Amino acid sequence: MKKNKIFIACDSQNTNKVKEIIKKTQSSKLKIGYKFGLEFLNSKKGREFISKIKNQITFGDYKFSDIPNTCVSAIKAISDLKFNYLTIHINCGLEALKAAKKVSGKTKLIGVTILTSLDNKSIKEIGYSKEIKKIVFKQAKLAHKAKLDAIVCSPIEVKIVKKVFKKEIITPGIRFNSKADDQKRTLTPKQAYKNGSDWLVIGRPITKGNIKNNLQNLINHLK
Ligand code: C5P
Repeated sequence: MKKNKIFIACDSQNTNKVKEIIKKTQSSKLKIGYKFGLEFLNSKKGREFISKIKNQITFGDYKFSDIPNTCVSAIKAISDLKFNYLTIHINCGLEALKAAKKVSGKTKLIGVTILTSLDNKSIKEIGYSKEIKKIVFKQAKLAHKAKLDAIVCSPIEVKIVKKVFKKEIITPGIRFNSKADDQKRTLTPKQAYKNGSDWLVIGRPITKGNIKNNLQNLINHLK
């Protein structure tokens, strides 16, 4: 049987904590990858730690959001880390996405849509006049045009994204219950897979508290 795929968000500044997360989330029941976000990537020892990782699926969640030249240079600057996946905000625009795709090589380039921590009210405050679903649909079209390898979106928008984007779909905003922390557009792991997510990104619901118990709860939930 195909294994469910999960990226564990290693959100910490502490290499020992990240080591603990990796050690305690080894599982024969799930296909696990490790996502390193802005906190770990910007920590003192984060880069060096990542450079030494072997035989793991790695995801550099840099969420690049800049002009084409800077995105390209930044991707070149981290090429030695040989990430399997790397993120760029689709809001950089088509030109930056295409330029980034040209230099990303074997690393799969993931386009990030509207953050899962935003709702329609926050989107209006920023200045968008369309609702999130419509914006994400447009962003998915851009990702398709730029030939990106994957999309990050909320599990709620997977079906919309799938209409125009046929490659991998990765969804953060995963919660088992109503304790959503700062996330606004959430679904449970089961619901996210049912909607068609290829990979889930899960951080705090696994990494806070007893990691092994949390992972087992996830496995039971998915049975
Ligand atoms: O702890 P939690 O499960 O909310 O972690 C989600 C992870 O996914 C965080 O590392 C966050 O930076 C990342 N992420 C997200 N929403 C996006 C893109 C990435 O929550 N749209």
